[in-house]
Amino acid sequence: MASVRKEVSNKQLILRDYVTGSPKESDMYVKTSTIKLEIPNGSKAVLLKNLYLSYDPVMRIELKIRSSLPIPLSRHYLGTERLFGWPISVTQFSVLVSRHLDYKEGDFVWGPAIWEEYSLVKEPNLTKIHHTDVPLSYYTGILSYPGITAYAGFYEICSPKKGEYVLVSSASGTVAQLVGQFTKLMGCYVVESAGSQQKVDLLKNKFWFDEAFNYKEECDLNAALKRYFPNGIDIYFENVGGKMLDAVLLNMRDHGRIAGCGMTSTYNLDEPERINLMFIIYKRIRMEGFSAIEYFHLYPKFLDHILPYIRESKIVYVEDLAEGLENGAAALLGLFSGCNVGKQVLVVSRE
Ligand SMILES: NC(=O)c1ccc[n+]([C@@H]2O[C@H](COP(=O)([O-])OP(=O)(O)OC[C@H]3O[C@@H](n4cnc5c(N)ncnc54)[C@H](OP(=O)(O)O)[C@@H]3O)[C@@H](O)[C@H]2O)c1
Repeated sequence: MASVRKEVSNKQLILRDYVTGSPKESDMYVKTSTIKLEIPNGSKAVLLKNLYLSYDPVMRIELKIRSSLPIPLSRHYLGTERLFGWPISVTQFSVLVSRHLDYKEGDFVWGPAIWEEYSLVKEPNLTKIHHTDVPLSYYTGILSYPGITAYAGFYEICSPKKGEYVLVSSASGTVAQLVGQFTKLMGCYVVESAGSQQKVDLLKNKFWFDEAFNYKEECDLNAALKRYFPNGIDIYFENVGGKMLDAVLLNMRDHGRIAGCGMTSTYNLDEPERINLMFIIYKRIRMEGFSAIEYFHLYPKFLDHILPYIRESKIVYVEDLAEGLENGAAALLGLFSGCNVGKQVLVVSRE
């Protein structure tokens, strides 16, 4: 690209240290350094300009002390300064300079992210974006891992059948808004739970789910679920864990299915919560955890499925955009207090 300057400033979001308890904005800070817009001869690196960064609740686990992590993660913070970045968080970039045969300058790609304006990626493993008639920011959510999560979790794990009764938690979030719409397309009855009246109104008036309720206003979740599912729940798409899961187990139908997608309510806890799992046996429930990464081979099939629905507005998608790395920490913390309405995205640059 002829007009590219040789060296530019590069803002990065840095984590001061691993966090115990609830994270604070002061746990992170923005640092500005410079980066050369060039790649050494013989290297297969690409230089990316980050456009949109994705937030995922599981980033909270990344902030914890390494030894307390429940699963071994192959890569945490990079370098001694602990650049903040989640290896499977999705980001949508444009390729600025490339010496890799698979990527050329001007390509749009998505893949693992570092929270900075420009990234030099020495061994790129990025997914090319071929459909640019939809907003590029969608490739941080509905058209990347959260989308695959909803698709694989619902169709592969839940084994849904027309007419079944489905509950989805964390309903205005990225994954849940899509799962809810898949359930409607399948001809199921869907109830979604969310943490504010604003979100409940959105679920009823924009997504047209059958019912939605504010779990924070229900002093007895068991009674609330009995109200919405007098004959029980066939499928629960689990995003929050904790008290909701406890109440759901009491209300599942025999041979019901639970997709273990995430447990956001537990991510800030230092000790795991106890759940009464006996009902899995009493009701012969199948509960299966899954990771979207293992279903990445379905990505082309998923795109074929979802893109026509998006283009025809038969699937709608709500995003919550924060602007600039300076606001990156605040928006991340907002995810854990339910401030986001829809997919939380950080806009690093629009061009
Ligand atoms: N298995 C996989 O491969 C995979 C892949 C992607 C995501 N996930 C998981 O799927 C779940 C949904 O992800 P998402 O990206 O769609 O995120 P999301 O639902 O947008 O997550 C943020 C929402 O979580 C809710 N929340 C925050 N703190 C909570 C708490 N203490 N208790 C209950 N709810 C809380 C808030 O909604 P309310 O205001 O409604 O409470 C907040 O708006 C997450 O658990 C994530 O880790 C799993």
